[in-house]
Amino acid sequence: MSRLYDAVRKSQDEKYQPHQQQGAQTAKPGSAEAPVVRTTKALKIDPAALKRNRILAFDKNEPEAESFAILRTKVLHKLKVNNWNTLGITAPHEGAGKSLVAVNLAYSLVLEGNQNILLVDLDLRRPTLHKYFDFTPEFGLVDYVRNGTPLSEILVSPEDTRLTILPSRGRTLHSSETLTLPKMVELMTEMKSRYKDRIIIFDMPPCLITDDVMVSLPHTDCTLLVVEDGKTKEDELRAAHDMLEDTGFLGVVLNKVQETRKVYVY
Ligand SMILES: Nc1ncnc2c1ncn2[C@@H]1O[C@H](COP(=O)(O)OP(=O)(O)OP(=O)(O)O)[C@@H](O)[C@H]1O
Ligand SMILES: [Mg+2]
Repeated sequence: MSRLYDAVRKSQDEKYQPHQQQGAQTAKPGSAEAPVVRTTKALKIDPAALKRNRILAFDKNEPEAESFAILRTKVLHKLKVNNWNTLGITAPHEGAGKSLVAVNLAYSLVLEGNQNILLVDLDLRRPTLHKYFDFTPEFGLVDYVRNGTPLSEILVSPEDTRLTILPSRGRTLHSSETLTLPKMVELMTEMKSRYKDRIIIFDMPPCLITDDVMVSLPHTDCTLLVVEDGKTKEDELRAAHDMLEDTGFLGVVLNKVQETRKVYVY
């Protein structure tokens, strides 16, 4: 099963050529010789909208960019020395800033670290990743898993970047069961194992609220925990750390700090 990576690789190999928005070639169901998916959907990005949405990692004039540069360096180092390529970003509770950190880190890795990144919205109950890029996904990850929607219809790539997004949409009931469906497990295994030079970032749900993170951990080499200054309680931090410490725990990102620089990395 290599359609995801065929699609991602194709888009990234051709990253400076115009993306083909329509007419992606996809595998015919049951076809032994499945045609390669040729495209992802191109996404036109308005830099002003990114800034409005607090995606600041690419702007060296922003204090946050420095924080994300530090985070990028630490993450890259850990991935390299351990030969890892999948990173999960979670938090003890909702609203701590997981998605914002995931997108900023992805941009920082793509633009300054020159990495190929696949950013996956794994928060199936409340997916919001797409909002940071100002688009509404027509299809999402669960459409692939449950309805067989081709990945070429789901994946989007901000133009002229090495970033590919696998969005989710709507609210998925029974999300942890969905995450353990054979087709999902196959996709996760594929994502993790096929191309070692591509970093996969999972924007995860909060880890103390459902068991979604727990069931995703076998596919995740390492994790970052986002905590919210003034909101995350110490017992929540401990419980989340206990859950993640055996999983290649990279550390804590302290977000929404009430000072000029709003993200700290430990
Ligand atoms: N450092 C920050 N400074 C100011 N606002 C922030 C910061 N980080 C996040 N926010 C805002 O807080 C809100 C929640 O952020 P985000 O969506 O990233 O959190 P989340 O942990 O992914 O939430 P959810 O649990 O709903 O998925 C958003 O409106 C976001 O813009
Ligand atoms: Mg989120």
